[in-house]
Amino acid sequence: MLWRPYQQMKTLPAPYRIVDAEGVFLYTENKKLIDSISSWWSVIHGYKHPVITKAIIEQAECFSHVMLAGLTHDPVERLADKLEELLPGDLKYSFFSDSGSVCVEVALKMALQYHVNQGNCNRTKILSLMNSYHGDTFKTMEAGDDDDYHHVLKAYGEKRYNIHIPTELSALEFAFNQYGEELNCFLVEPLLQCAGGMRIYDVAFLKRARELCDKHDVLLIFDEVATGFGRTGNRFVSDLVVPDIVCLGKALTGGYIGHAATVANEKVYRAFYSSDPQKALMHGPTFMGNPLACAAALASISLFEEGNYLERIAKIELITRREFEGFQDDRIREIRIIGGCVCIETYDASAIDGYREFAYERGVFARPFIKYLYAMVPYVIREEELVRVLDCMKAWFKR
Ligand SMILES: Cc1ncc(COP(=O)(O)O)c(C=O)c1O
Repeated sequence: MLWRPYQQMKTLPAPYRIVDAEGVFLYTENKKLIDSISSWWSVIHGYKHPVITKAIIEQAECFSHVMLAGLTHDPVERLADKLEELLPGDLKYSFFSDSGSVCVEVALKMALQYHVNQGNCNRTKILSLMNSYHGDTFKTMEAGDDDDYHHVLKAYGEKRYNIHIPTELSALEFAFNQYGEELNCFLVEPLLQCAGGMRIYDVAFLKRARELCDKHDVLLIFDEVATGFGRTGNRFVSDLVVPDIVCLGKALTGGYIGHAATVANEKVYRAFYSSDPQKALMHGPTFMGNPLACAAALASISLFEEGNYLERIAKIELITRREFEGFQDDRIREIRIIGGCVCIETYDASAIDGYREFAYERGVFARPFIKYLYAMVPYVIREEELVRVLDCMKAWFKR
């Protein structure tokens, strides 16, 4: 029997059985649904894209997997080179893993060991944001601040190694003054906090964070698992402020195969580079650098680069703003729009109860959570399809 994610199995609503998918559409036996959330924000080119499918098939016909210790292969080396070329600054050392949570774990391990390798074992604390979400593994749950997902941690009592701050400059200054010499890193979802409620904040916060991290020798980590590859309207938020480590997942493979990358800069890499085995990064997921995933990622990145995606995303944002112009309802607290993301925050969770079924009837797949009704569409969506998704969201409040 299947145990499903994030849901009480006793009261679980029946999931929709997908029998086919193409472009922005999911097909059940008798329904065609626009996927308004791109399979957890990952399927940016839509389903069954011939270029990505072909890349995976060609690689599978060659070999589907080999381990990365003692062996190497072209797809993984080409992907590491491609990320080095793509990412800003000197972010150029890619460590691959199989999911977003694990790539953030790797970043956190790197940050701790960066200091340990230099003889400093006192920097055990992680600074991160209130309402942050970085994955469901233990250290990422600790670094996160999202009780809706991580309330099980209450069994451990107060978090000893974590400090959470709001996205306010005064809180940032205070945290560095107070804890600057105990921190190993500042971990953030840059510009857009997704699972915590699609909260948008100012780039000035990240710029100041960069200065303070430099001043206190604290590593700045951007968790771009959700924001990477265009979601905020920027290629990467790292293009605006360059972190020491960036985490990529989800859209890295166009959402075709689970894979992720933790990409470090020269300074971080140098702290590990030594003839001392103790200074090596002791991590090695079995499926890191999986050739099928790397082939999918290379194809996905070439589509992203060649398909004017930033223009497409800017257009998605423009249409979304146009469609929501002046829209309001007493149940709505705020409507937030950035790049390819729109979120309606309601005052009360009951205000979105039943939306999933309402949307299904109108040919849209949605998965609102807590008190957030949102869309993160595939970037290949056509205007009339996007308008249908947005109309559906508005229609819910007009009933
Ligand atoms: C910002 C962020 N980090 C990490 C993760 C975890 O990624 P995964 O589900 O691939 O483990 C997510 C997933 O939603 C995310 O949004």
